[in-house]
Amino acid sequence: MTGSKRAQVAQPGILEPIPRAARYLSFGLKDGAHAPGALRALAKAVDGKTCVVGLGALLFFALQREIEGLRPFPHYRGEGFEVPSTPAALWCWLRGEDRGEIVLSGREIEKMLSPAFEATSVVDAFKYDRGLDLTGYEDGTENPRGGKAVEAAISGDKRAGIEGSSFVAVQQWVHDLDRFSAKPRKDQDDTIGRRRSDNKEIGAAPRSAHVKRTTQESFVPEAFVLRRSMPWTDATRVGLVFVAFGKSLDAFEAQLKRMVGAEDGTVDALFGFTRPVTGSYFWCPPIKGRQLDLRAIGL
Ligand code: HEM
Repeated sequence: MTGSKRAQVAQPGILEPIPRAARYLSFGLKDGAHAPGALRALAKAVDGKTCVVGLGALLFFALQREIEGLRPFPHYRGEGFEVPSTPAALWCWLRGEDRGEIVLSGREIEKMLSPAFEATSVVDAFKYDRGLDLTGYEDGTENPRGGKAVEAAISGDKRAGIEGSSFVAVQQWVHDLDRFSAKPRKDQDDTIGRRRSDNKEIGAAPRSAHVKRTTQESFVPEAFVLRRSMPWTDATRVGLVFVAFGKSLDAFEAQLKRMVGAEDGTVDALFGFTRPVTGSYFWCPPIKGRQLDLRAIGL
């Protein structure tokens, strides 16, 4: 099933495990910019493996194009938390084992896009141990695998330029690790809903526990996404870049809605120590040959 047509034409970096190092570049559009030229150059230069590309709402608006299923990122505000919606034009997830190569290829991409796009944010990320969040909890345990990952994340719509595409939700979260580590271990485990010591799910965890909020099988219809989140840091802050790929945005939205308590008034305990500072959706085109397939937007 992973050998299916849609898996073969998806950007390979989506389906691969997270790399050791990454850099996320977000771009806005320059005033009066003519984007198609820069996009064509990017499409030729990018293989979808060392750089996964997503196109955002601001770009579709400028091009006067639409992608069925792409919509504005939801904005929520509640008692003591906010989930912001921060639209962008373009997103590049640079992936690799060597930070030097990532830095240099990021510079190339910024240069290539500079006639039309300007970088609005650059976030450096890394794999921690076997794939832990900086709280020490394993992230990604319940991710679908193999054919199920393809089914969750990659579009099977046979239309040329659509098959193999994916949507992605991206949020930069800033952790207050001092606050988290001040909690007794039991409260920490109850925040996540898993034991840090052995990663076992805690059946009797409170309703606010993160995995109680998001159990993918508990939604109707079931809400599976393919998470590819990575820890990030800059000089003063730490957190998680939450990244979830889906064949549509429905599953992510159903999960987020429960996290903010919009269904039953129970807010995800995660908000007690971490907060999202960005929130954007992108559409990730498929690949054709060894380059991005932009037929869906007429390029
Ligand atoms: C700072 C933010 C976040 C952190 C630190 C975090 C961390 C975790 C951890 C440690 C797990 C348990 C292991 C696993 O199955 O991966 C988990 C599960 C999960 N998280 Fe998050 N998460 C965050 C944000 C989100 C957001 C925003 C969503 C979606 C709106 C989400 C969706 C999920 C899902 C679907 C699961 C698996 C649930 C299941 O089926 O058991 N997470 N997360």
